Amino acid sequence: MTPPPMPPMRLSVNVDHVATLRNARGGAFPCPVEAARAAMAAGADGITVHLREDRRHIRDRDLERIGAEVAGRLNFEMAATAEMIGIAERLRPAACCIVPEKRQELTTEGGLDVIAAGDALRDAVARLAAAGIEVSIFIEADARQIAAAAAIGAQVIELHTGAYADAAPDGRPAHLARLRAGAAAAAASGLLCHAGHGLTYETLPPIAAMPEVVEVSIGHFLIGQSVFEGLPAVIRRMQAQIAAARQG
Ligand code: PXP
Repeated sequence: MTPPPMPPMRLSVNVDHVATLRNARGGAFPCPVEAARAAMAAGADGITVHLREDRRHIRDRDLERIGAEVAGRLNFEMAATAEMIGIAERLRPAACCIVPEKRQELTTEGGLDVIAAGDALRDAVARLAAAGIEVSIFIEADARQIAAAAAIGAQVIELHTGAYADAAPDGRPAHLARLRAGAAAAAASGLLCHAGHGLTYETLPPIAAMPEVVEVSIGHFLIGQSVFEGLPAVIRRMQAQIAAARQG
């Protein structure tokens, strides 16, 4: 019997690092809003931005402008703080992905501990969902965390692919097995499943082949590789990898 066709997978392009480059010179170039527009024109399915508490890359105005000016599904990565929830309620992006945030970290280091976060996280999810926003929680592929995410009312989990992507090639199969089990557990709990962190041309295809994973969010490699190939070419190549993986 032929297996059922896989649902499509979206590529959400994270433009934080365009803002990092802009901020290095304190001016307006390169503009993350322009990058978001170019990404959508090149075939991205959506745009991701992370407004951090310290505003080290994306700033409030970038988020507002991308939401207002760029036609594309906006995914707002944020810590579950009162400030960020207020911004999300005002701007109403299509989706919010709640991440843990530490001031000193270079990037989001680990998944959220949904069990330890308790009622505060449940309230944050409820407020965002009440604003009509699809709420995702960034977690490790751990069965207890996935069950807890479903229990507090999240609609989506984003599986943290960082450990897999950073592993040496011979260490990746074990990480992939864990991620596959996580994606299956999410689907069994009625959750949509996204994935992201550290993905590259080399590490994207096995993730794109997981039928439960319906969105990947990619930033650092995609923006970095654009220096060599150009943003449209990198997006087209990743979309081709996704299409090939989804066809089996
Ligand atoms: N998903 C989440 C929740 C993240 O925090 C990040 C990093 O901003 C990404 C995806 C994208 O990771 P990368 O920039 O390594 O592609």
